[in-house]
Amino acid sequence: MIAMNGSYHGKSLGSLSVTFNPKYRKAFMPLVEKVAFSPFGDIASLREKIDSDTAFVIMEPIQGESGINVSPPGFLQDVRKLCDERGILLIFDEIQAGLGRTGKMWACDHWNTTPDIICLAKGIAGGVPMSATLTRPDILAAMSKGEHSSTFGGNPLSCAAGIATIQALTQDGLVDNAAKVGKFFMDGLEKLKEKHSIIREVRGKGMMIGVEMKFEVKDILMDGIQEGVLLLYSGRNILRFLPPLVMTEVEITKVLEILDKLFTKESERRKNVQG
Ligand SMILES: Cc1ncc(COP(=O)(O)O)c(C=O)c1O
Repeated sequence: MIAMNGSYHGKSLGSLSVTFNPKYRKAFMPLVEKVAFSPFGDIASLREKIDSDTAFVIMEPIQGESGINVSPPGFLQDVRKLCDERGILLIFDEIQAGLGRTGKMWACDHWNTTPDIICLAKGIAGGVPMSATLTRPDILAAMSKGEHSSTFGGNPLSCAAGIATIQALTQDGLVDNAAKVGKFFMDGLEKLKEKHSIIREVRGKGMMIGVEMKFEVKDILMDGIQEGVLLLYSGRNILRFLPPLVMTEVEITKVLEILDKLFTKESERRKNVQG
């Protein structure tokens, strides 16, 4: 099994085994064996790691937890090609990036690449617990009915919420909204980067955006709460934005105004620390 450096796939035994960060793995060792990690975006290293026993490559097309790392141009296509050549399954974990989040229904659509298996959860039922693994019938045939089930699997309430969410995504134009408003947000953040030298980089797609700062973001997160904006972090120095797909440009404008204020305050704080 091959996963990527920086990967995050969850904290249950199997998913933790293909999650990179030692901080999460440590307490649960030993995990599933025979997992190798390969640098994200580096096709040559991946090629070297594959041998005749390799079953699959699992990856996030855009890594979420480790800081909104977007696959470099050509990487996904190269991984797909390599997996086809070597007869290996390709699994995309689109739990964070899928279902419209990046301005396309699937993050892998940005690179016109299709996996053999796709993992979905998070937004799939608009906040009601649900997850799904989709694959082709020939792969699914490896399992027989009832072999993979759970108490709340197929829960009718969750399924109703899932249907409503998918309808909203496809019929109410939420995917297009994520693309349009996400771009508006990124453009605004780029302008803030020009103004505030404490910002190192703005990156992402659609409504999956990371702002890498030159310093820890802890104080910005706390100040954000006071201003009515709940922010998320990645690592110590990255702000992660995954706003609801229904957000409007008017609402984002307000968020940008608040962020401007937060960055100004942080810059002042930094000056005082250094001075
Ligand atoms: C890409 C990705 N995969 C898997 C997971 C795990 O999902 P859950 O927390 O629902 O187990 C997450 C959660 O953050 C995620 O971002």
